[in-house]
Amino acid sequence: MDVSQALRQRYSARAFTEQVPAAALVQRLLEDAALAPSGGNIQPWRALALTGEPLQALLADITAAPVPDQAQSVLLSYPDNLWEPYRSRRFNNGEAMYQHLAIAREDKAARMAQNARNAQFFGAPVAILILTDARMGRPQWLDLGCFLQSFMLRATEEGLGTCVQGFWRRYNDVLQHSLGYPAEYTVAYALALGYVDDTAAVNSFRTQRAPWQEWAELRGF
Ligand SMILES: Cc1cc2nc3c(=O)[nH]c(=O)nc-3n(C[C@H](O)[C@H](O)[C@H](O)COP(=O)(O)O)c2cc1C
Repeated sequence: MDVSQALRQRYSARAFTEQVPAAALVQRLLEDAALAPSGGNIQPWRALALTGEPLQALLADITAAPVPDQAQSVLLSYPDNLWEPYRSRRFNNGEAMYQHLAIAREDKAARMAQNARNAQFFGAPVAILILTDARMGRPQWLDLGCFLQSFMLRATEEGLGTCVQGFWRRYNDVLQHSLGYPAEYTVAYALALGYVDDTAAVNSFRTQRAPWQEWAELRGF
């Protein structure tokens, strides 16, 4: 598989089989992701991969914890009062997924249940938490993005599915307490990782992209 194929095959998988990817493979994916560039080569990422008992223990702690108020998160997933064209893109993306799953707009319970699957890593057998020192700034978060996409493309090449989850930022305090990572670290995002369940309707959902003329221009060519 070449990079172009991996880019086209990757999508956010939200249902997985129970098959656990081998430890050596997970380690290799992380090491390859760390080939990503970072400003000053400071490599501001720290990864924690969980499966089996440690993952079950974390999920138990999450279930027992009160649901955090997302608005209290240090880093919100989106700016307040998101404006166009981003507002519509986000809205349409959500609507398209619920339509794909045949969940009606007024069926709030079903929408919440789908969203709540975030808190189970969508049933993935492996959860990877990507942490960074909370003192890092926006440029270092770009580095984390480079790491993220590198990881996902390599996972795709290995026949694995992934879903990035910014969702977990709101659980930072619970994660920190449960997993015992240093207080100066914060979770930037998590990755659900595993072999995709091809029978799950959610995994046949594909997102669209705005046409390139909307966001790019070529000058002087
Ligand atoms: C930084 C980041 C955070 C994300 N957080 C979540 C999340 O918490 N839950 C979720 O289901 N998807 C999450 N996603 C997945 C996006 O919804 C998805 O990438 C987008 O809709 C495009 O779809 P695709 O990944 O299938 O191409 C996140 C993606 C990124 C890059």
